[in-house]
Amino acid sequence: MRVAISGGSGFLGSHLCEELLRRGDTVYCLDNFSSGSKANIARLLDLPGFRCVPCDVTERFRFSATVDAVAHLASPASPADYHRHPLETLAVGSRGTENMLRLAESQEARFVLASTSEVYGDPAVHPQNEDYWGHVNPIGPRSVYDEAKRFAEALSMAYRRSRGVDVGIVRIFNTYGPHMRPHDGRVISSFIRQALDEEPLTIFGDGSQTRSFCYVDDLVRGLVAMLDSADPGPINLGNPEEHTVREVAELVTGITGSRGELRHLPLPVDDPVRRRPVITRAREALGWQPRVPLEEGLRHTVDWFVAEARAHARNPEEAVAAGSA
Ligand SMILES: NC(=O)c1ccc[n+]([C@@H]2O[C@H](COP(=O)([O-])OP(=O)(O)OC[C@H]3O[C@@H](n4cnc5c(N)ncnc54)[C@H](O)[C@@H]3O)[C@@H](O)[C@H]2O)c1
Repeated sequence: MRVAISGGSGFLGSHLCEELLRRGDTVYCLDNFSSGSKANIARLLDLPGFRCVPCDVTERFRFSATVDAVAHLASPASPADYHRHPLETLAVGSRGTENMLRLAESQEARFVLASTSEVYGDPAVHPQNEDYWGHVNPIGPRSVYDEAKRFAEALSMAYRRSRGVDVGIVRIFNTYGPHMRPHDGRVISSFIRQALDEEPLTIFGDGSQTRSFCYVDDLVRGLVAMLDSADPGPINLGNPEEHTVREVAELVTGITGSRGELRHLPLPVDDPVRRRPVITRAREALGWQPRVPLEEGLRHTVDWFVAEARAHARNPEEAVAAGSA
């Protein structure tokens, strides 16, 4: 296949690019490098099937290649990023999604939207299946992300119903792994960075809130299956194993051998208390389920963070480029 991936230099996007190239696809990575990093795609740049197309997908951009599928991943995704860039987050969920839908429509291509478990908000139903409509504060600080994704889902379904675009929606739950930015403010990257720097691990609230963490290789298999399918979704992609944030802190402490000191901060506004996907639909429609247990995935991720820190210590210029991208 020939696939255009918006957000292809980000955490998930760069893994998706790599996986598609591995199976022989041609990949066009469309990115403005706002939260993505050139370092994430550096090893792909010389591969014959890979093209990097720097652009902002909320603007008019030139893209004349023929594609069979479009994966729309562009969006700030960590709370730190979307709090810093609220208007850009709303723009990429709305205008950006429409531009990518138009691209798919013009080429009669499959369109996959990377939506999020955040559409369920602070869920009043647990665990969450795709029929649950969510519990979202439309004007709170998280709303720029949650509502942008809800709008992106509505827009995608409207293009499917009224224009016949082959749309598929996946709702991604917390995912972790190599290529996360150490300062992106997400729980696993923060814990690993703090543990390796011998700092106390920051826990919001008492740490009893739960999350379900999916290793990136598992998640990417799900994205590829959705690209290959004609299912409209929405389909939850996430690991149904639920862990408290405190348990994750203990695992990271054990793996890194750090002191395990904790620092408690107040819970952010509208922070969801529980999150766990029902993945029956993913199993039935895509034959997908996660395989990598949390501890194993955390070990791979810690190894990657350690290797990156060593590489950056040897070449500080590269560190500046990756850190600021
Ligand atoms: N990682 C997760 O746990 C998770 C969970 C749920 C949903 N998602 C969704 O998956 C997608 C990828 O998330 P991620 O974790 O890789 O985030 P990320 O921030 O690492 O990647 C997002 C990418 O989009 C690019 N981008 C942002 N705005 C753009 C624009 N206007 N034009 C072009 N490129 C733009 C960024 O530069 C970056 O490369 C996002 O849509 C996110 O909402 C991720």
